[in-house]
Amino acid sequence: MKILVVGSGGREHVLVWKLTQSPLVENVYCAPGNAGTALDAENVNIASDDISRLLKFARDNAIDLTIVGPEAPLVAGIVDEFRRQNLTIFGPTAAAAKLEGSKVFTKKLLRKANIPTAGFAVFSRMPEAMQYLEECEEQPLVVKADGLAAGKGVFVCANRAEARNAVTSILRDRTFGAAGSQVVIEECLVGHEASILALVDGDTIVPLDVAQDHKRAYDHDRGPNTGGMGAYCPAPLVTSAIMDDIIRRILIPTVHTMKIEGCPFSGVLYAGIMLTANGPKVLEYNVRFGDPEAQPVLMRLRTDLAQVLMLAATGRLAELEDSLDWDPRPAVCVVMASEGYPGEYKKGHAINGIDEANALPDVKVFHAGTAFKNSQIVNTGGRVLGVTAMGDTIADAKQNAYAAVDKIQWTGGWCRRDISDKAQL
Ligand code: AMP
Ligand code: GLY
Repeated sequence: MKILVVGSGGREHVLVWKLTQSPLVENVYCAPGNAGTALDAENVNIASDDISRLLKFARDNAIDLTIVGPEAPLVAGIVDEFRRQNLTIFGPTAAAAKLEGSKVFTKKLLRKANIPTAGFAVFSRMPEAMQYLEECEEQPLVVKADGLAAGKGVFVCANRAEARNAVTSILRDRTFGAAGSQVVIEECLVGHEASILALVDGDTIVPLDVAQDHKRAYDHDRGPNTGGMGAYCPAPLVTSAIMDDIIRRILIPTVHTMKIEGCPFSGVLYAGIMLTANGPKVLEYNVRFGDPEAQPVLMRLRTDLAQVLMLAATGRLAELEDSLDWDPRPAVCVVMASEGYPGEYKKGHAINGIDEANALPDVKVFHAGTAFKNSQIVNTGGRVLGVTAMGDTIADAKQNAYAAVDKIQWTGGWCRRDISDKAQL
């Protein structure tokens, strides 16, 4: 099989690394990729949102399977375009990607299917939204822009005044452009969060082991929100009884409702779940692998990833003979970031020590924002590396990951020091 992976982050690097281990795979390309994917496979200089050039590359190079990492090309319809040309691609159609592309679409679907989620209201005009806030009890509220906003469109507001500011920024000031033509105002849920990822082929659902992300920039969940500063898998707080509940009350009705609405879901269904005192509730859906969740999850997967994603992309997941096979050892991924991230940061610093880190047992350094400058690896993004390790226990995996982190240096490079501590809560 020849495989094309679309994207350039840590998620895409772990996909590439896993796929190259499959005996079914002869070649893996990554567009546009990073320095790590260049080392493990072959980079192709096409941006992840340049659908027409990706299509041409797949056709010209007889790619058997394309796997899409980020949400933007999915929401823009890359799967529809590839399928129209009879190319096999793993991911949802534009209509199904609305589960991530439109929070209004998702909340309405959840309500219609009676799937547990925060209570909410939707507004497209300032006066009605403001009136609603006046009539609400004074309580924490969450205000969200409807569309894709690069993870910045969600405001957790402590009180009415903050909620008013968030609504004004989205609806009046159009901080997120057209993504803010509607707002969702919802109840603030309290609890621990978990990332539930499942492979879906329109019909059959194959859940992956559960991960937990660390979205805030600094230790003990302080500081601004980021794309994710680290993750670990499996997450013991989701017991098998809770997982059964999530499958029965959330995943199955979601996939079923998408099917009867005429937009069957295939690809990775990623449910952001809040484990509340009243049971698990959906915070949001994503329609792709999580980043950094994919790094610890896929590191533990022993089943042939190329085979299972091909089955998912062709509607044949039910043919999977055995359940997925996992390394029982937990994995921890620590994200190393550029100085200043998630704000402004400088690029082009030389990164040292990656080979020494990779030489440690059960460690793999996944690249995110890196590139080669001459023959030196330099930082080019905010999240730069996902240093991932396994161990006999979560504490061992954490220790192994930080031992690897401590081999790596560049000017300003930093990370959280408490990734996976939530597992002990
Ligand atoms: P989203 O992009 O919808 O996942 O939101 C980003 C983050 O905002 C989530 O991971 C949660 O930490 C937080 N969040 C979103 N919705 C809620 C909610 N209803 N209650 C509490 N926190 C929320
Ligand atoms: N780690 C959060 C996400 O991938 O959206």
